[in-house]
Amino acid sequence: MRFDAADATLILACAKGAPVSILYWGGALHADTDCAELEGLFARQGMHGVADVALPLSLAMEPGLGHPMFRGFAAHRAGKDWGSLFEVGAVELREGGAKIICRDESTRLGLEYEIDFDARTGVLRIRSTLTNYGATPLDVSDMMTACLPVPDGMTDIIGFTGRWTQEFTQERVARNAATYLRENRSGRTSHFSYPAILLAATDTNESTGDVYGFHLAFSGNHRIRVDSLTDGRVMASLGALLLPGEVRLAPGETYASPEIVAAYSGQGLSKLSRKFHDHVRTKLLSPEMRAKPRPVHYNTWEAVYFDHDVEKLKELATRAAEIGVERFVLDDGWFGGRRHDRAGLGDWTVSRDVYPDGLGPLVDHVTGLGMEFGLWFEPEMVNPDSDLYRAHPDWVLGLEGVEQIPFRSQLALDISRPEVADYLFHAIDAILRDHDISYIKWDMNRDLSHPGDSSGVPRAFAQVGALYALLDRVRHAHPYVEIESCSSGGARADMGVLAHSDRVWTSDSNDALDRQVIQRGASFFLPLEVLGCHVGPAKCHVTGRRLSMEMRAATALMGHMGLELNLLTERTADLDVLKNAIDLHKKHRALLHNGDVFRLDSAPQLIASGVIARDKSEAIYSVAYVASDAKVLPGRFQFTGLDPQRSYRLQLIWPSDWQAIKGPSAIETLDLNGEGAIFSGAALVHGGLQLPHAFPETCLLFYVAAV
Ligand code: GLA
Repeated sequence: MRFDAADATLILACAKGAPVSILYWGGALHADTDCAELEGLFARQGMHGVADVALPLSLAMEPGLGHPMFRGFAAHRAGKDWGSLFEVGAVELREGGAKIICRDESTRLGLEYEIDFDARTGVLRIRSTLTNYGATPLDVSDMMTACLPVPDGMTDIIGFTGRWTQEFTQERVARNAATYLRENRSGRTSHFSYPAILLAATDTNESTGDVYGFHLAFSGNHRIRVDSLTDGRVMASLGALLLPGEVRLAPGETYASPEIVAAYSGQGLSKLSRKFHDHVRTKLLSPEMRAKPRPVHYNTWEAVYFDHDVEKLKELATRAAEIGVERFVLDDGWFGGRRHDRAGLGDWTVSRDVYPDGLGPLVDHVTGLGMEFGLWFEPEMVNPDSDLYRAHPDWVLGLEGVEQIPFRSQLALDISRPEVADYLFHAIDAILRDHDISYIKWDMNRDLSHPGDSSGVPRAFAQVGALYALLDRVRHAHPYVEIESCSSGGARADMGVLAHSDRVWTSDSNDALDRQVIQRGASFFLPLEVLGCHVGPAKCHVTGRRLSMEMRAATALMGHMGLELNLLTERTADLDVLKNAIDLHKKHRALLHNGDVFRLDSAPQLIASGVIARDKSEAIYSVAYVASDAKVLPGRFQFTGLDPQRSYRLQLIWPSDWQAIKGPSAIETLDLNGEGAIFSGAALVHGGLQLPHAFPETCLLFYVAAV
């Protein structure tokens, strides 16, 4: 079965009675290339010391295949029926995809694959469903959504790791004979192991070379592995990580895996990212939300923390509206006894201590200023010091006889219990019905360390499904309320949650230098418009670093822009700069939020990227000077992605008051910070601009428009 996109071909081997596997996936093949030709080319000889026949591959890599080192599937019935071998029974073709129905008669299991291959982008999506047709329960210990072969020329593995305030840190390692394994048992997407992986050729960079990318669209425990089989073939496998006893299928029951979203690029890493961005934009985000410009945010967290005072909040809102903010988001601290993070979580009623007249007066003030109002919730959690916990101590996840691990003074609710989900839905629904609220920041701030339900069974996997169902229920009841997914910063920023929300909070670090790296990492999978990017205070609260407003604003401007600082204490001159940046963001946000992202390779002192309109009529390039340079001058900057056949006007649009350091640079001689100058696309792409010397911690933004 063959699927084609402009620059990629996928061929599945799915003959009846044989295992289902990928015969070919990579650069586009000529229409005449047939499967027999490929099978002949790929045929493997026998060898001493291994099986006499080449062992087949399959999407499940189940035990019955007999591979000595790697298995992608493990299940049993009380110690028996562990050796499944799935054979294709039927294939149902549909536009751009297929359902492949496999079965193993000896262990009485069914395994179905839903496979979609987008002819426009070449994005491949795979989901699998296991059904127990036997008469006794089946324990599923491990089931990868799919195991996908990649060419052995993909010698580098790029993973994404990090911690709180350092999300999306790239880690490129050389593949070797050992298994590369990432396991996440935190019960959320996690800071430490982003559920995605890239396999690239050694010399693949942002704009050239082969790369295969895989993302598990799931916000819970995951396992990602890259295995070299004994015969040198390479498999990338992704799936939910199932805890012991978590998936026990009664006769007739099914287990549905999370989806893998994968893509191939023969033109480097940025092209791969553009395919993922296209997928998020067209398949995950709702068309209504995409059509609406994303409002510039003001978030109260770093300005007031738990110190809520209505008059001060109104003042902040007034100041925010004056400089162009369009949505005011009231963060943690507005409800129950939540005067600090040790109490009140779970009590989702407006605190009369801090809001004696309710939230109404603040909401009215904000909406009266022409802004939207947004509100923070952390529905899945409870403080033991709360009315909710006192009434329902049995609603939390935990393990009898095992002490709860302290984690921000809060415990996780078992939201897979209908009465818990109902309580949360009605609490959120009541607040949304009573107020003019158009945005929710949905937070989640602890790991599910011991996710046992009241009967002791692990519920980490079920918790994710229950979260998605709760998000959908809220969205269905309030279709015009947008939802942001947050988890101690960016610990829940995956494509699974984005199918049920509208934006992610990228990181609790508003330090622009760190943000340059974090946002670049996030852009491997997510388009800029879903990345919450805020301007923080002059002295960053989490790093203590001081950065200019020019640098902070330019960094936040390149995503979904917001502010998170005390506007009442910032210097007036800085507020003027900030207002200019907000104006600039609004002027170019249609481009930033719909354009094609080109991350650019550069010396380590620079972090550079461009966003180019689909029709190549305009572009913005960001060049951040993040460290001192041992050379007198940085190199020439090539405006990758422009159309070499067209002519463009080039302008420096940020910083608004460019200060030359010495002697005129091209910025002054070409009047780039004034009217700009016109160049051929070819000169900009292939020749490039000699960058000026600039102080470290400066960010230049260039605007390029076709003439
Ligand atoms: C988390 C979030 C922050 C903020 C706080 C509130 O840490 O990431 O943005 O909302 O919770 O408690």
